[in-house]
Amino acid sequence: MKRIFVTRRLPEPVEALMARSFDVTLNVDDRPLSPSDVVAACRGMDALVINATERLDAAAITGLPDRLKAVGTYSVGHEHLDLDALQARGIPVVYTPDVLSASVADNAMLLMLGAARRAREGQALIVEGRWKGWGPRQLIGTEVTGKRLGIFGMGRIGREIARRARAFDMEIGYRNRRALEAGAGLYFADEEKFLSRSDILAIAAPASPETRHWLNAERIARLPKGALVVNIARGSLVDDEALTAAVESGHLAGAGLDVFDGEPDIHPAYLRLDRIYVQPHIGSSTLETRLAMARHVISGLETLFAGSDPPNRLV
Ligand code: DGY
Repeated sequence: MKRIFVTRRLPEPVEALMARSFDVTLNVDDRPLSPSDVVAACRGMDALVINATERLDAAAITGLPDRLKAVGTYSVGHEHLDLDALQARGIPVVYTPDVLSASVADNAMLLMLGAARRAREGQALIVEGRWKGWGPRQLIGTEVTGKRLGIFGMGRIGREIARRARAFDMEIGYRNRRALEAGAGLYFADEEKFLSRSDILAIAAPASPETRHWLNAERIARLPKGALVVNIARGSLVDDEALTAAVESGHLAGAGLDVFDGEPDIHPAYLRLDRIYVQPHIGSSTLETRLAMARHVISGLETLFAGSDPPNRLV
């Protein structure tokens, strides 16, 4: 059996599934690892299964042992890996596209509804014992039904969000590298027009140096007053100062965020702004998805070890 090191504890049935195919070494205490910890743990391993919590930069990649013949990232995002450096070392990488899209899109709807219906404030009212009973002025929110949804990044996850939003009679507009087939929604070549018609903006684009702080003060100012922002992609796409200032000023009615720049050390304003409905990066946290992600990584690594090219190969 090939020996693999897995950087984080996976749900029990997932670890059991991996153990059927590989001789697995686990990071027993589940502490996120530094690049040099990862390199050290790879000694004697044939493959590494890494998570988005561990970074492999160019310097670390030069230190990987020659025995290591493949990397599988247990994620669809891959900004934590220096793919060029891995390619230069001749180490192929597989990832987990497609299988997270439904879970992440479900979570986008949760965030959208949570922000629109002030779920954080309602939850706090009850669990803190402050609720005095129903009242017609209580927690007035906004309907998502019929609103204009702007999706930034119309990849697999963006499309799944659009599919769900149509059930809420939302009008779909999107920005993307290219226009998609008719029926996907209204494509906006013009960013200003896209922003100014987005009652709800959903960020679903990958993290990259080009998208860092894409949602900045200038772009937020172009959103209609009272708009909502949802982010299920990566925290780095949002300028936290600008977003929290816009919620404080009332320009934005709220936000629903699953991901944060520098998580888990998040901007302190997120701890107190109760119009911002927050979740701790749970987009793909369903057992169905975790198992499907594992099947992707396992079959990708097995295919590589058999000398072929898996469909989920990144480099
Ligand atoms: C992903 O797969 O990219 C998820 O965000 C977990 O890292």
